[in-house]
Amino acid sequence: MARMNERPIGFFDSGVGGLCIRDAVQALLPREDTVYIADSAHCPYGNKSPEEVRALAQAHTRTLLEKGCKMVVVACNTATAAAIDALRAEWPDVPFVGMEPAVKPAALRSTSGVVGVLATQGTFNGRLYRETCARCAKKTVVLMCVADEFVTLVERGETSGPRAEAVVRAKVEPLLAAGADHLVLGCTHFPHLKPLIEQVAAGRAAVIEPSAAVARQAKRLLAERDWLNPSGGTSHVFIRT
Ligand code: DGL
Repeated sequence: MARMNERPIGFFDSGVGGLCIRDAVQALLPREDTVYIADSAHCPYGNKSPEEVRALAQAHTRTLLEKGCKMVVVACNTATAAAIDALRAEWPDVPFVGMEPAVKPAALRSTSGVVGVLATQGTFNGRLYRETCARCAKKTVVLMCVADEFVTLVERGETSGPRAEAVVRAKVEPLLAAGADHLVLGCTHFPHLKPLIEQVAAGRAAVIEPSAAVARQAKRLLAERDWLNPSGGTSHVFIRT
């Protein structure tokens, strides 16, 4: 087995959504190798029970660790909500990076006092989301919008065109009409639709997504263990279930 530094970083998601997170990590850490699991066989996760999503997250983590990964990025908000505590408890020596809707920066930047969060039902049901809202958005109205249709679009590779625009408009317009001046993309599939969401929200709301912040967190956790790879970056494995 390679030395810890030389091992890849592992990622998983219910499909191709989390590739935006992998790309952000690669951009920040170009010397890191990666393994990405796109669990298309079980997509979507958003309306599955937490138990079901947790079992899938544990299985993917096991696969990534068997492949020698030194870190696991749960590149899925829904899986983070359902499973991150269980994963950390089961593998205490493995650094995990999870996803959390960026409610805090949205609340801090909002001048209207209203922000919209687009995510899955599973993410909204999670303790993490509730606690973040209670902690960071005391004086902000946080509108929740379940946008499973966005996941379908992205999995189909349909991220532009009139049909995709109509789907995006149907979800985003009500948030804008209710006064939201920031839209939080709380699902890793949604940044793939960012240009379209920005087009619909132009001049009315800013779009916030956390890929870069997640990449910085991954770097921090590796750096503090002295696990950064000085010499890799050539192997990027993609596994689709
Ligand atoms: N990409 C996932 C997330 O960040 C979920 C999409 C789904 O499978 O429902 O929540």
